[in-house]
Amino acid sequence: MNPSNTNRSGTSVSLVQIVIGGILIIAGGFFIGTFTPNIVPVEGSAEAQQVDGLFRFMLVIGAAIFLLVNGVLAVSIIRFRARANDYSDGPPIQGNTTLEFVWTLIPAIIVTVLTLYAYSVWNNITSVKPNEQVVDVTGQRFAWTFTYDVTEADLGEIGVAREQLSEDVTASFADGGALTFNYPQLATWVGKPVHVQLHTQDVNHAFWIPGMRIKQDLLAGRVTDIRFTPIEAGVYRIVCAELCGSGHGDMAGTVDANGNLRGAWLIVYEDEETYMREFYRPEAQNVLFPPEDPVALGRQILAAGSYPCASCHVLSDLGWQGNVGPNLDDIGNRAETRRGGFTAEEYLANSIRHPGEYVVPGYGNLMPQFNPDPAQTNYMPDDHLNAIVAYLLTQQAG
Ligand code: CUA
Repeated sequence: MNPSNTNRSGTSVSLVQIVIGGILIIAGGFFIGTFTPNIVPVEGSAEAQQVDGLFRFMLVIGAAIFLLVNGVLAVSIIRFRARANDYSDGPPIQGNTTLEFVWTLIPAIIVTVLTLYAYSVWNNITSVKPNEQVVDVTGQRFAWTFTYDVTEADLGEIGVAREQLSEDVTASFADGGALTFNYPQLATWVGKPVHVQLHTQDVNHAFWIPGMRIKQDLLAGRVTDIRFTPIEAGVYRIVCAELCGSGHGDMAGTVDANGNLRGAWLIVYEDEETYMREFYRPEAQNVLFPPEDPVALGRQILAAGSYPCASCHVLSDLGWQGNVGPNLDDIGNRAETRRGGFTAEEYLANSIRHPGEYVVPGYGNLMPQFNPDPAQTNYMPDDHLNAIVAYLLTQQAG
């Protein structure tokens, strides 16, 4: 006596219903995938469009699977619910070759299509582009430094004649050599393919520009790289995406209360001419014609971000707001008496060459050591050291 059994075993679904259900699910997937608002930053690069296209495609598939699973669940709850006084089991079902074939085939097709699509996007992003701007990026605890080349061929473009240059400078152009300048920000222009070469001075970091949709690890002992082509002028945040120590959060671009950019940002100028006029020419001229006064030179070197001091120290003269190391605002007053047996000059120079020898109480031994030998990491030539010390000694808080 079990008449209600027909409720379950007697139910069959026609092929037409399956086809209609399938069409609804796929259409629903496209609807959700298309009309979900963008939660990611503006697409600043050609690569961003491709990455977002792949993301939308996965969103469509994910939405369709969501509708399928929850649709089946809803139908089961309503149509196959237990009736009053029905304590029977459903009929046992074992083995359905067609069903098993279908539910193996569909995921296999999805995974294959996704693999091919993702591989083609990856291939496009990483392939060498014609006429690339190559920028060297150094990551270290806790700042990014961007290094740009100035070659003899650039002289005409920046309006400098070879005769104007000192012998020191022209010597660096011998055998096709280049002069370099550092800058705390990455600068380029719309439509210019950029090839970023990444190396770390200490631990692993990760170079991430969300607006460009690129992210690449920096691995100790290896050079890694990443490419992008900006399509939209503007400023884009650069972020460190690998926990690298107590100042990890300082390796991201920020904006201070006055609206000034702090830390690492990508600046995309409208065109090459604007880039040359507003960024490259003045910075290149700074390095071609360094000031003779060591105090002015030291200030220029630090303001250019040649060394990653800004993210760890306060120095109001240059707008630094780091709080990992001692405040430098009145270092000129304190250097004299800080460490017995050292003059102010010796104390500051030693703190840069051998920061671990004396650590100011209350601070960690975190500062990188800056070496006089170009073959070592964190190279700082003696003339830079002397200029920086001369400048820092002028910092006397009122
Ligand atoms: Cu560098 Cu986190």
